[in-house]
Amino acid sequence: MGEGNRILLIVSGGIAAYKCLEVIRRLRERDIAVRCILTRAGADFVTPLSLAALSEDKVYDDLFSLTDENEMGHIRLSREADLVVVAPATANILAKMATGIADDLATTALLATDKPVMVAPAMNVRMWEHPATQTNMETLEGRGVLRVGPGEGAMACNEWGMGRMAEPEEIIAAVEKFFRDASRLSGRRALVTSGPTHEAIDPVRYIANQSSGKQGHAIAAALARLGARATLVTGPTHEPDPAGVEVVHVVSARDMLAACETAAGGDGPLDVAVCAAAVSDWRAAETVTDKIKKDGSAPALALVENPDILATLGNGGAQRPRLVIGFAAETSSVVENARTKRTAKNCDWIVANDVSPETGTFGGDANTVHLVSADGVEDWPTLSKRAVADRLAGRIAEALEAAP
Ligand code: C5P
Repeated sequence: MGEGNRILLIVSGGIAAYKCLEVIRRLRERDIAVRCILTRAGADFVTPLSLAALSEDKVYDDLFSLTDENEMGHIRLSREADLVVVAPATANILAKMATGIADDLATTALLATDKPVMVAPAMNVRMWEHPATQTNMETLEGRGVLRVGPGEGAMACNEWGMGRMAEPEEIIAAVEKFFRDASRLSGRRALVTSGPTHEAIDPVRYIANQSSGKQGHAIAAALARLGARATLVTGPTHEPDPAGVEVVHVVSARDMLAACETAAGGDGPLDVAVCAAAVSDWRAAETVTDKIKKDGSAPALALVENPDILATLGNGGAQRPRLVIGFAAETSSVVENARTKRTAKNCDWIVANDVSPETGTFGGDANTVHLVSADGVEDWPTLSKRAVADRLAGRIAEALEAAP
Protein backbone atom coordinates (compact mmCIF):
# COMPACT_ATOMS: atom_id res chain seq x y z
CA MET A 1 0.00 0.00 0.00
CA GLY A 2 1.11 3.57 -0.42
CA GLU A 3 3.34 4.10 -3.38
CA GLY A 4 1.42 4.67 -6.56
CA ASN A 5 -1.92 5.25 -4.85
CA ARG A 6 -3.57 8.55 -5.65
CA ILE A 7 -6.29 10.42 -3.80
CA LEU A 8 -8.40 13.30 -4.98
CA LEU A 9 -9.30 15.15 -1.77
CA ILE A 10 -12.31 17.44 -1.94
CA VAL A 11 -12.40 19.96 0.89
CA SER A 12 -15.81 21.50 1.37
CA GLY A 13 -16.73 24.30 3.74
CA GLY A 14 -16.90 23.37 7.38
CA ILE A 15 -14.96 24.27 10.48
CA ALA A 16 -13.53 20.72 10.39
CA ALA A 17 -11.65 21.65 7.21
CA TYR A 18 -8.59 22.39 9.34
CA LYS A 19 -8.35 18.66 10.14
CA CYS A 20 -7.84 17.86 6.46
CA LEU A 21 -4.38 19.42 6.69
CA GLU A 22 -3.40 16.66 9.10
CA VAL A 23 -5.05 14.09 6.81
CA ILE A 24 -2.94 15.29 3.87
CA ARG A 25 0.23 15.22 5.94
CA ARG A 26 -0.38 11.63 7.02
CA LEU A 27 -1.31 10.48 3.52
CA ARG A 28 1.90 11.98 2.14
CA GLU A 29 3.88 10.22 4.89
CA ARG A 30 2.45 6.99 3.48
CA ASP A 31 3.53 7.94 -0.04
CA ILE A 32 -0.02 8.44 -1.20
CA ALA A 33 -0.28 11.21 -3.77
CA VAL A 34 -2.89 13.83 -2.85
CA ARG A 35 -4.45 16.35 -5.20
CA CYS A 36 -6.93 18.80 -3.69
CA ILE A 37 -10.08 20.51 -4.88
CA LEU A 38 -11.12 23.32 -2.57
CA THR A 39 -14.71 24.57 -2.72
CA ARG A 40 -15.49 28.27 -2.40
CA ALA A 41 -16.83 27.72 1.13
CA GLY A 42 -13.87 25.47 1.97
CA ALA A 43 -11.55 28.38 1.15
CA ASP A 44 -13.17 30.32 4.01
CA PHE A 45 -11.64 27.81 6.44
CA VAL A 46 -8.31 26.75 4.91
CA THR A 47 -6.10 28.48 2.41
CA PRO A 48 -5.11 27.03 -0.96
CA LEU A 49 -1.53 27.76 0.01
CA SER A 50 -1.56 25.40 3.00
CA LEU A 51 -3.19 22.62 0.95
CA ALA A 52 -0.69 23.12 -1.86
CA ALA A 53 2.28 23.11 0.53
CA LEU A 54 1.22 19.91 2.27
CA SER A 55 0.04 18.04 -0.84
CA GLU A 56 3.05 19.25 -2.85
CA ASP A 57 0.68 19.80 -5.76
CA LYS A 58 -1.39 22.54 -7.25
CA VAL A 59 -4.79 23.12 -5.62
CA TYR A 60 -7.82 23.26 -7.88
CA ASP A 61 -10.72 25.59 -7.29
CA ASP A 62 -13.30 27.41 -9.34
CA LEU A 63 -10.90 30.22 -10.07
CA PHE A 64 -8.97 28.09 -12.55
CA SER A 65 -10.04 28.07 -16.13
CA LEU A 66 -10.97 24.49 -16.88
CA THR A 67 -11.06 25.08 -20.58
CA ASP A 68 -7.47 26.28 -20.66
CA GLU A 69 -5.21 23.67 -22.27
CA ASN A 70 -2.75 24.02 -19.40
CA GLU A 71 -5.37 23.33 -16.80
CA MET A 72 -6.70 19.97 -15.79
CA GLY A 73 -10.39 19.44 -16.62
CA HIS A 74 -12.81 18.01 -14.09
CA ILE A 75 -12.90 14.73 -15.99
CA ARG A 76 -9.15 14.23 -15.80
CA LEU A 77 -9.07 15.36 -12.19
CA SER A 78 -11.66 12.78 -11.22
CA ARG A 79 -10.22 9.98 -13.32
CA GLU A 80 -6.59 10.43 -12.30
CA ALA A 81 -7.26 9.15 -8.79
CA ASP A 82 -7.77 5.73 -7.23
CA LEU A 83 -10.09 7.11 -4.57
CA VAL A 84 -11.99 10.36 -4.14
CA VAL A 85 -12.26 11.51 -0.52
CA VAL A 86 -14.64 14.30 0.53
CA ALA A 87 -13.45 15.63 3.90
CA PRO A 88 -15.14 17.45 5.39
CA ALA A 89 -18.37 16.52 3.62
CA THR A 90 -20.99 19.11 4.51
CA ALA A 91 -24.74 18.47 4.45
CA ASN A 92 -24.80 20.65 1.35
CA ILE A 93 -22.26 18.66 -0.65
CA LEU A 94 -23.89 15.36 0.41
CA ALA A 95 -27.24 16.70 -0.86
CA LYS A 96 -25.68 17.74 -4.15
CA MET A 97 -23.98 14.37 -4.54
CA ALA A 98 -27.23 12.53 -3.80
CA THR A 99 -29.18 14.50 -6.38
CA GLY A 100 -26.45 14.85 -8.99
CA ILE A 101 -26.08 18.62 -8.85
CA ALA A 102 -22.87 19.81 -10.47
CA ASP A 103 -22.59 23.55 -9.97
CA ASP A 104 -18.92 23.94 -9.11
CA LEU A 105 -15.66 22.15 -9.76
CA ALA A 106 -15.96 19.83 -6.73
CA THR A 107 -19.49 18.61 -7.48
CA THR A 108 -18.78 18.38 -11.21
CA ALA A 109 -15.76 16.18 -10.51
CA LEU A 110 -17.89 14.05 -8.17
CA LEU A 111 -20.54 13.58 -10.85
CA ALA A 112 -17.93 12.80 -13.49
CA THR A 113 -15.92 10.28 -11.50
CA ASP A 114 -16.06 6.56 -12.05
CA LYS A 115 -13.77 5.97 -9.05
CA PRO A 116 -14.77 4.91 -5.53
CA VAL A 117 -15.80 7.80 -3.29
CA MET A 118 -15.41 8.09 0.49
CA VAL A 119 -17.06 10.83 2.54
CA ALA A 120 -16.29 12.12 6.03
CA PRO A 121 -19.48 13.97 7.01
CA ALA A 122 -19.08 16.99 9.29
CA MET A 123 -21.93 19.18 10.41
CA ASN A 124 -24.09 20.32 13.29
CA VAL A 125 -26.00 17.52 15.03
CA ARG A 126 -29.43 18.79 13.84
CA MET A 127 -28.23 18.97 10.26
CA TRP A 128 -26.85 15.42 10.51
CA GLU A 129 -30.03 14.08 12.08
CA HIS A 130 -32.32 15.87 9.64
CA PRO A 131 -34.26 13.32 7.56
CA ALA A 132 -33.03 15.04 4.39
CA THR A 133 -29.37 14.39 5.30
CA GLN A 134 -30.11 10.87 6.53
CA THR A 135 -31.93 10.04 3.29
CA ASN A 136 -29.15 11.55 1.20
CA MET A 137 -26.55 9.54 3.10
CA GLU A 138 -28.57 6.35 2.64
CA THR A 139 -28.89 7.04 -1.08
CA LEU A 140 -25.17 7.59 -1.38
CA GLU A 141 -24.25 4.48 0.62
CA GLY A 142 -26.73 2.50 -1.47
CA ARG A 143 -24.72 3.60 -4.51
CA GLY A 144 -21.53 2.36 -2.91
CA VAL A 145 -20.18 5.59 -1.41
CA LEU A 146 -18.01 4.72 1.60
CA ARG A 147 -18.50 6.64 4.82
CA VAL A 148 -16.15 7.35 7.71
CA GLY A 149 -17.74 8.93 10.80
CA PRO A 150 -19.21 11.21 11.87
CA GLY A 151 -18.56 10.84 15.57
CA GLU A 152 -20.24 12.19 18.66
CA GLY A 153 -18.82 15.05 20.64
CA ALA A 154 -18.68 18.75 21.33
CA MET A 155 -19.30 20.83 18.25
CA ALA A 156 -17.92 24.18 17.22
CA CYS A 157 -21.46 25.59 17.67
CA ASN A 158 -21.41 24.71 21.40
CA GLU A 159 -23.81 21.79 20.97
CA TRP A 160 -23.13 18.14 21.67
CA GLY A 161 -24.02 15.24 19.42
CA MET A 162 -23.35 13.30 16.22
CA GLY A 163 -21.82 15.27 13.42
CA ARG A 164 -18.17 15.75 14.35
CA MET A 165 -15.91 14.81 11.48
CA ALA A 166 -13.94 11.61 12.01
CA GLU A 167 -10.46 12.27 13.40
CA PRO A 168 -7.58 12.23 10.88
CA GLU A 169 -6.36 8.84 12.17
CA GLU A 170 -9.81 7.28 11.53
CA ILE A 171 -9.83 8.70 8.01
CA ILE A 172 -6.34 7.37 7.39
CA ALA A 173 -7.37 3.93 8.75
CA ALA A 174 -10.39 3.90 6.40
CA VAL A 175 -8.21 4.87 3.44
CA GLU A 176 -5.64 2.19 4.33
CA LYS A 177 -8.41 -0.41 4.61
CA PHE A 178 -9.76 0.69 1.24
CA PHE A 179 -6.39 0.20 -0.47
CA ARG A 180 -5.80 -3.11 1.34
CA ASP A 181 -9.24 -4.39 0.28
CA ALA A 182 -8.80 -3.16 -3.27
CA SER A 183 -5.98 -5.63 -3.80
CA ARG A 184 -7.19 -8.58 -1.71
CA LEU A 185 -8.32 -10.54 -4.76
CA SER A 186 -5.98 -9.03 -7.32
CA GLY A 187 -4.77 -11.64 -9.77
CA ARG A 188 -7.82 -13.83 -8.97
CA ARG A 189 -10.39 -14.77 -11.58
CA ALA A 190 -14.05 -14.92 -10.60
CA LEU A 191 -17.20 -15.96 -12.42
CA VAL A 192 -20.68 -14.96 -11.25
CA THR A 193 -24.03 -15.92 -12.75
CA SER A 194 -27.01 -13.67 -12.14
CA GLY A 195 -30.63 -13.05 -13.06
CA PRO A 196 -33.24 -15.36 -14.51
CA THR A 197 -33.05 -17.18 -17.81
CA HIS A 198 -35.71 -16.96 -20.47
CA GLU A 199 -36.65 -20.17 -22.27
CA ALA A 200 -38.46 -19.60 -25.53
CA ILE A 201 -41.77 -21.34 -26.18
CA ASP A 202 -42.32 -19.61 -29.48
CA PRO A 203 -40.93 -16.33 -30.92
CA VAL A 204 -42.98 -14.19 -28.47
CA ARG A 205 -43.50 -16.32 -25.37
CA TYR A 206 -41.04 -17.64 -22.83
CA ILE A 207 -40.69 -19.33 -19.44
CA ALA A 208 -39.05 -17.07 -16.84
CA ASN A 209 -38.98 -16.45 -13.07
CA GLN A 210 -38.99 -13.61 -10.55
CA SER A 211 -35.23 -13.19 -10.16
CA SER A 212 -34.12 -9.52 -10.40
CA GLY A 213 -30.38 -10.16 -10.64
CA LYS A 214 -29.73 -7.71 -7.77
CA GLN A 215 -27.88 -10.20 -5.59
CA GLY A 216 -25.72 -11.69 -8.34
CA HIS A 217 -24.80 -8.28 -9.77
CA ALA A 218 -23.91 -7.05 -6.27
CA ILE A 219 -21.61 -10.06 -5.78
CA ALA A 220 -19.79 -9.46 -9.06
CA ALA A 221 -19.32 -5.79 -8.08
CA ALA A 222 -18.09 -6.73 -4.59
CA LEU A 223 -15.52 -9.18 -5.99
CA ALA A 224 -14.32 -6.53 -8.44
CA ARG A 225 -13.98 -4.03 -5.56
CA LEU A 226 -11.59 -6.49 -3.92
CA GLY A 227 -9.54 -6.48 -7.10
CA ALA A 228 -10.74 -9.71 -8.74
CA ARG A 229 -10.96 -10.05 -12.50
CA ALA A 230 -14.69 -10.76 -12.48
CA THR A 231 -16.89 -12.01 -15.29
CA LEU A 232 -20.63 -11.70 -14.80
CA VAL A 233 -22.82 -13.93 -16.97
CA THR A 234 -26.31 -12.58 -16.67
CA GLY A 235 -29.75 -13.44 -17.95
CA PRO A 236 -32.19 -10.63 -18.83
CA THR A 237 -32.47 -8.12 -15.93
CA HIS A 238 -33.06 -4.41 -15.41
CA GLU A 239 -29.87 -4.07 -13.38
CA PRO A 240 -27.12 -1.86 -14.85
CA ASP A 241 -23.80 -3.54 -15.67
CA PRO A 242 -21.61 -3.22 -12.56
CA ALA A 243 -18.47 -1.08 -12.87
CA GLY A 244 -15.18 -2.87 -13.33
CA VAL A 245 -16.77 -6.18 -14.31
CA GLU A 246 -16.75 -7.95 -17.68
CA VAL A 247 -20.42 -8.62 -18.43
CA VAL A 248 -21.75 -11.29 -20.79
CA HIS A 249 -25.47 -11.01 -21.53
CA VAL A 250 -27.29 -14.24 -22.27
CA VAL A 251 -30.91 -15.30 -22.56
CA SER A 252 -31.34 -19.04 -22.05
CA ALA A 253 -29.82 -21.59 -19.66
CA ARG A 254 -27.94 -23.23 -22.48
CA ASP A 255 -26.42 -19.85 -23.51
CA MET A 256 -25.53 -19.24 -19.87
CA LEU A 257 -23.75 -22.59 -19.60
CA ALA A 258 -21.81 -21.95 -22.81
CA ALA A 259 -20.71 -18.50 -21.56
CA CYS A 260 -19.67 -19.98 -18.19
CA GLU A 261 -17.69 -22.73 -19.87
CA THR A 262 -15.90 -20.14 -21.97
CA ALA A 263 -15.08 -18.11 -18.85
CA ALA A 264 -13.98 -21.22 -16.92
CA GLY A 265 -11.72 -22.41 -19.73
CA GLY A 266 -8.65 -20.56 -20.86
CA ASP A 267 -6.02 -19.47 -18.34
CA GLY A 268 -6.28 -22.39 -15.92
CA PRO A 269 -9.06 -22.92 -13.38
CA LEU A 270 -11.05 -19.99 -12.05
CA ASP A 271 -10.44 -19.09 -8.43
CA VAL A 272 -14.12 -18.83 -7.64
CA ALA A 273 -17.50 -19.33 -9.29
CA VAL A 274 -20.66 -17.98 -7.66
CA CYS A 275 -23.86 -19.26 -9.24
CA ALA A 276 -26.49 -16.79 -8.11
CA ALA A 277 -28.63 -17.03 -11.26
CA ALA A 278 -32.12 -18.46 -11.02
CA VAL A 279 -31.66 -20.72 -13.99
CA SER A 280 -34.87 -22.10 -15.44
CA ASP A 281 -34.95 -25.81 -14.59
CA TRP A 282 -36.83 -26.65 -17.76
CA ARG A 283 -37.17 -25.47 -21.33
CA ALA A 284 -39.74 -26.26 -23.98
CA ALA A 285 -38.97 -29.62 -25.59
CA GLU A 286 -39.31 -28.01 -28.97
CA THR A 287 -39.20 -24.38 -29.94
CA VAL A 288 -41.40 -23.42 -32.79
CA THR A 289 -40.49 -20.68 -35.19
CA ASP A 290 -44.07 -19.47 -35.70
CA LYS A 291 -46.19 -17.96 -32.94
CA ILE A 292 -48.55 -20.64 -31.58
CA LYS A 293 -52.08 -19.69 -32.60
CA LYS A 294 -55.01 -19.60 -30.21
CA ASP A 295 -57.53 -22.05 -31.62
CA GLY A 296 -59.92 -22.67 -28.75
CA SER A 297 -57.93 -25.54 -27.24
CA ALA A 298 -55.02 -25.18 -24.77
CA PRO A 299 -51.75 -26.50 -26.23
CA ALA A 300 -49.82 -29.03 -24.14
CA LEU A 301 -46.32 -27.80 -23.40
CA ALA A 302 -43.74 -30.58 -23.21
CA LEU A 303 -40.67 -29.66 -21.15
CA VAL A 304 -37.15 -31.04 -20.93
CA GLU A 305 -34.61 -30.43 -18.20
CA ASN A 306 -31.97 -27.74 -18.64
CA PRO A 307 -28.29 -28.36 -17.94
CA ASP A 308 -27.30 -27.60 -14.35
CA ILE A 309 -24.57 -24.96 -14.55
CA LEU A 310 -23.59 -25.14 -10.87
CA ALA A 311 -23.28 -28.95 -10.97
CA THR A 312 -21.33 -28.75 -14.23
CA LEU A 313 -18.84 -26.33 -12.67
CA GLY A 314 -18.75 -28.31 -9.39
CA ASN A 315 -17.91 -31.50 -11.26
CA GLY A 316 -15.51 -29.75 -13.61
CA GLY A 317 -12.53 -32.00 -12.91
CA ALA A 318 -9.21 -30.31 -13.65
CA GLN A 319 -11.06 -27.17 -14.73
CA ARG A 320 -13.13 -27.01 -11.53
CA PRO A 321 -12.99 -23.51 -10.00
CA ARG A 322 -11.15 -23.70 -6.66
CA LEU A 323 -14.21 -22.48 -4.82
CA VAL A 324 -17.69 -23.25 -6.19
CA ILE A 325 -20.59 -21.47 -4.52
CA GLY A 326 -24.26 -22.01 -5.23
CA PHE A 327 -27.45 -20.36 -4.06
CA ALA A 328 -30.52 -22.16 -2.86
CA ALA A 329 -33.71 -20.18 -3.22
CA GLU A 330 -36.24 -22.11 -1.17
CA THR A 331 -39.72 -21.57 0.20
CA SER A 332 -39.50 -24.23 2.95
CA SER A 333 -36.88 -26.39 4.76
CA VAL A 334 -34.34 -23.84 3.57
CA VAL A 335 -31.23 -25.16 5.32
CA GLU A 336 -31.98 -28.90 4.88
CA ASN A 337 -32.53 -28.44 1.16
CA ALA A 338 -29.35 -26.39 0.91
CA ARG A 339 -27.30 -29.12 2.61
CA THR A 340 -28.61 -31.72 0.17
CA LYS A 341 -27.93 -29.41 -2.77
CA ARG A 342 -24.35 -28.75 -1.63
CA THR A 343 -23.39 -32.38 -1.86
CA ALA A 344 -25.58 -33.22 -4.85
CA LYS A 345 -23.99 -30.44 -6.91
CA ASN A 346 -20.48 -30.91 -5.54
CA CYS A 347 -20.10 -27.32 -4.45
CA ASP A 348 -18.17 -25.90 -1.52
CA TRP A 349 -20.70 -23.46 -0.13
CA ILE A 350 -24.39 -22.88 -0.58
CA VAL A 351 -25.93 -19.52 0.25
CA ALA A 352 -29.47 -20.43 1.22
CA ASN A 353 -32.32 -17.97 1.37
CA ASP A 354 -36.06 -18.05 1.84
CA VAL A 355 -37.78 -16.59 -1.21
CA SER A 356 -41.38 -17.08 -0.06
CA PRO A 357 -43.41 -14.12 -1.40
CA GLU A 358 -43.86 -12.64 2.11
CA THR A 359 -40.07 -12.26 2.51
CA GLY A 360 -39.85 -9.82 -0.43
CA THR A 361 -36.43 -11.29 -1.31
CA PHE A 362 -37.08 -11.56 -5.04
CA GLY A 363 -36.73 -8.04 -6.41
CA GLY A 364 -36.24 -6.53 -2.92
CA ASP A 365 -33.09 -4.92 -1.54
CA ALA A 366 -32.66 -7.07 1.57
CA ASN A 367 -31.75 -10.69 2.04
CA THR A 368 -31.56 -13.07 5.00
CA VAL A 369 -29.18 -15.89 4.18
CA HIS A 370 -27.53 -18.94 5.74
CA LEU A 371 -24.06 -19.95 4.61
CA VAL A 372 -23.91 -23.73 4.39
CA SER A 373 -20.47 -25.31 4.10
CA ALA A 374 -18.76 -28.55 5.10
CA ASP A 375 -18.07 -26.86 8.46
CA GLY A 376 -21.73 -26.24 9.27
CA VAL A 377 -24.29 -23.50 8.93
CA GLU A 378 -23.85 -19.81 9.63
CA ASP A 379 -26.99 -17.71 10.00
CA TRP A 380 -26.37 -14.18 8.78
CA PRO A 381 -28.56 -11.29 9.96
CA THR A 382 -30.88 -9.60 7.49
CA LEU A 383 -28.64 -7.38 5.38
CA SER A 384 -28.94 -5.36 2.20
CA LYS A 385 -28.05 -7.41 -0.87
CA ARG A 386 -25.00 -5.21 -1.22
CA ALA A 387 -23.92 -6.01 2.34
CA VAL A 388 -24.51 -9.75 1.73
CA ALA A 389 -22.32 -9.40 -1.37
CA ASP A 390 -19.54 -7.59 0.52
CA ARG A 391 -19.59 -10.13 3.33
CA LEU A 392 -19.54 -13.05 0.90
CA ALA A 393 -16.70 -11.47 -1.10
CA GLY A 394 -14.77 -11.01 2.17
CA ARG A 395 -15.31 -14.68 3.04
CA ILE A 396 -14.18 -15.72 -0.44
CA ALA A 397 -11.02 -13.64 -0.03
CA GLU A 398 -10.35 -15.26 3.37
CA ALA A 399 -10.85 -18.76 1.95
CA LEU A 400 -8.54 -18.12 -1.00
CA GLU A 401 -5.92 -16.47 1.23
CA ALA A 402 -6.02 -19.49 3.56
CA ALA A 403 -5.37 -21.93 0.69
CA PRO A 404 -3.39 -19.91 -1.84
O1 C5P B 1 -31.53 -26.95 -7.77
P1 C5P B 1 -31.70 -25.49 -7.61
O2 C5P B 1 -32.15 -24.80 -8.85
O3 C5P B 1 -32.54 -25.08 -6.44
O4 C5P B 1 -30.22 -24.98 -7.25
C1 C5P B 1 -29.94 -23.66 -7.14
C2 C5P B 1 -28.50 -23.42 -7.47
O5 C5P B 1 -28.14 -24.12 -8.66
C3 C5P B 1 -28.22 -21.96 -7.78
O6 C5P B 1 -26.90 -21.69 -7.40
C4 C5P B 1 -28.38 -21.88 -9.28
O7 C5P B 1 -27.64 -20.81 -9.83
C5 C5P B 1 -27.84 -23.22 -9.72
N1 C5P B 1 -28.45 -23.76 -10.91
C6 C5P B 1 -27.71 -23.79 -12.08
N2 C5P B 1 -28.25 -24.35 -13.21
C7 C5P B 1 -29.50 -24.83 -13.20
C8 C5P B 1 -30.26 -24.80 -12.03
C9 C5P B 1 -29.71 -24.23 -10.90
O8 C5P B 1 -26.57 -23.32 -12.08
N3 C5P B 1 -29.99 -25.36 -14.30
